[in-house]
Amino acid sequence: MNDAVRDPAIIELAAEQTHPLRLAVLRFDTVTKDVVFPEDTWPGARHLGMLVDNELVAVSTWVPRPHHDQPAVQLRGMATSRAAQGHGHGGALLEGGCERMAAAGTTLVWARARDAALEFYLRHGFEVEGDGFIDQNTQLPHHLIVRSLA
Ligand SMILES: CC(C)(COP(=O)(O)OP(=O)(O)OC[C@H]1O[C@@H](n2cnc3c(N)ncnc32)[C@H](O)[C@@H]1OP(=O)(O)O)[C@@H](O)C(=O)NCCC(=O)NCCS
Repeated sequence: MNDAVRDPAIIELAAEQTHPLRLAVLRFDTVTKDVVFPEDTWPGARHLGMLVDNELVAVSTWVPRPHHDQPAVQLRGMATSRAAQGHGHGGALLEGGCERMAAAGTTLVWARARDAALEFYLRHGFEVEGDGFIDQNTQLPHHLIVRSLA
């Protein structure tokens, strides 16, 4: 067996390659089925995925976007396929993405996190900022979260 193939690997994706997992994981139970984010094609936007056994099991999108006038990157569309959840792939992608952003000079990552995933982010060094709110697109409860990479 070839371990190089079996080992999880983080890969760069085109925006469209994130769509199937966005739809299956983030949009299957929401009013909106829109999987195209306007930020997908903003300058500097990067789409990172986790490949396991040649299968894309998790996706994430990283968009240069200031936070409170501070240079930062917004994390969007974080999703692990339901079959692959709870095996550390999302966490590894989150950490690998933060490492890549830090290497590119990013000092702050922020996101609008679903409350259902809040514990996941808090375990990975994010902190909650402010009160909860209902996201207009999904109608789900969210909190703003931030992680310093400095
Ligand atoms: C949130 C999400 C991206 C996390 O991805 P994941 O691949 O399941 O993440 P991990 O496996 O790294 O961690 C999930 C849990 O599995 C457990 N876990 C991690 N590694 C593990 C391992 N090797 N073995 C067993 N359990 C493990 C952890 O306890 C972790 O708990 P936590 O969520 O309280 O931190 C995923 O659950 C998901 O797509 N959810 C639905 C969509 C969503 O809410 N996305 C976020 C939008 S803001």
